[in-house]
Amino acid sequence: MKKSTNLRRHAAARPLLLILALLVVGLSYSVVSPPRSSAETETTLQIEQGKDIYMTTCSSCHGLGGEGTTQGPTLIGVGAASVDFQMGTGRMPASRLEAQIRARKVNYTQEQIEAVAAYVASLGPGPGIPEESQYSLDALNLAEDEKALAIARGGALFRANCSACHGVLGGGGAMPEGKFAPNLTDTTPVHVYEAVRTGPQQMPMFSKDVLTDQSVSEIIAYLEAADEQPNYGGLTMGDAGPVAEGWWVFIVGIGGLSIVALWIARKGARAR
Ligand code: HEC
Ligand code: HEC
Repeated sequence: MKKSTNLRRHAAARPLLLILALLVVGLSYSVVSPPRSSAETETTLQIEQGKDIYMTTCSSCHGLGGEGTTQGPTLIGVGAASVDFQMGTGRMPASRLEAQIRARKVNYTQEQIEAVAAYVASLGPGPGIPEESQYSLDALNLAEDEKALAIARGGALFRANCSACHGVLGGGGAMPEGKFAPNLTDTTPVHVYEAVRTGPQQMPMFSKDVLTDQSVSEIIAYLEAADEQPNYGGLTMGDAGPVAEGWWVFIVGIGGLSIVALWIARKGARAR
């Protein structure tokens, strides 16, 4: 009889001991392991929030894991910059498919946009949302004359790389098949930077090898200066540039002179 109680105690002790051991290991692990940094949990929460918005608003076109569908391209590797640009200018979420998805009213807060951007960035590495020092010359504290030179360089870069589509002063222009390069005068500096780095729709993408951050900042400073420039009156003729404006002068000026010359010639003939 005594022997059997002993045995029974023994049999119950084993699992108890195991549970105790597990508890000790678990407790000591939670004491020894470093606490998760609050920044880390914040990012995880942000990605979770972004994923929720993505699943309800974007996945129908871009796929449940961002892999793309027949309705929209893959977002794996487009980066946070692309999402911030597309949502921040109201292009995304697209409502219907048209020749060119246009900028519209933005229905999301910047916090929500950054959450979706963080989720998309977690799918694959791509260009991030830039820091202010990447798209603004302000941090450099340039003297007035240095700033003027930087704006002039920005103008030269803009005419070489952008004006063919956007016009000399960034006023925008038409493109084939009902597409167009938009007016840039109201675009925020962050979105200009992101457009340059991600190349939305028909626009080419410019890498840092082609245009450094400094060059993009100079282009942005030029666009701001061009926007502040007073309108000297007269027709802008779409700010199409010297060649187009020259043609107008040619047609109106030389054309007018020819008419006057013809008129004089007739008069002269009659007088004789
Ligand atoms: C009705 C379908 C549709 C919905 C909904 C939609 N998109 Fe798009 N999205 C598109 C299409 C189509 C394009 C490609 C446009 C092009 O380049 O011609 C695109 C392009 C993009 C791009 C640019 C990709 C690149 O290559 O840089 C991003 C980023 C993007 N979408 C994000 C989103 C996000 C975020 C949402 C949800 C808030 C969303 N989209 C909702 C159809 C959709
Ligand atoms: C081949 C023609 C082309 C060239 C070159 C080009 N773009 Fe674009 N750009 C476009 C088109 C088309 C769009 C509209 C894309 C869209 O709606 O998704 C656009 C859109 C933009 C936007 C977004 C404007 C807004 O408010 O929504 C910015 C900013 C921009 N371009 C800046 C530039 C800059 C800066 C350069 C030169 C470094 C440049 N682009 C070169 C065609 C071009």
